[in-house]
Order: sequence, then structure tokens, then C-alpha cells
Amino acid sequence: MIRVTFISADGERRQEVDALAGSVLLDVAQAAGQPLEGTCEGQMACSTCHVIVDAADFDRLPRASEDEEDMLDLAAAATRTSRLACQIMLDGKLDNLTVHIPSESYNMQGM
Ligand code: FES
Repeated sequence: MIRVTFISADGERRQEVDALAGSVLLDVAQAAGQPLEGTCEGQMACSTCHVIVDAADFDRLPRASEDEEDMLDLAAAATRTSRLACQIMLDGKLDNLTVHIPSESYNMQGM
């Protein structure tokens, strides 16, 4: 199992979940009730699955593809450690991954 910690946009709520190796971060987040829309279902066409990876964990992730980088350029509130959750496949190297939910995803859900 791979432990993933989600931190809410306001930093107040922390949720730890255990995911199976091979699962996609977006699916894990949605199953945990995190407010990521993932409108295009992993087609890299929406950026609503944007998450901000904890700076301490960022270098453990495989690099983003050019298509992902292009889409991240369009994401609101993107930072240097932003990624698209639909492009992150969890494996043993990513155990104890911490990701922050950007505040915009709350707005899109009307929260
Ligand atoms: S779900 Fe659309 S880019 Fe990730």
C-alpha cells in the first residue's frame, strides 16, 4: 500500500489514505472525497485535476510530459510543484506522498 496525504486548500484538513500500487492519484483523491473534478478523465485536456505536490516530495515523481506542462500552464494558481493528478501513477517510490489541493478546485465545486 502507498500512503498518500491530502491537505485541504486552507491547510486545515489532512486526510491520509492508503492506495494500491498502480492506482492513479486522481482516482485515489476522488475515492477519498477530495474535490478534484478531473473533467476530462485523464485526457490531459482540462487541468481540473491540478494538485500541488509537497515540495519535499516533488523530486520523487517522474517528470511531467510536455503535454502535462502545457496544461499546467493553464491551471489557475499553478506553482513550481504543480502536477496533474491524472498523470501520476502511484508506486512504491511514492509512499508517503503529500499533496495539497489548490483552492480553485473548491470554487469549481461551488464550495
Ligand atoms: S483529468 Fe483532465 S487533465 Fe487530468
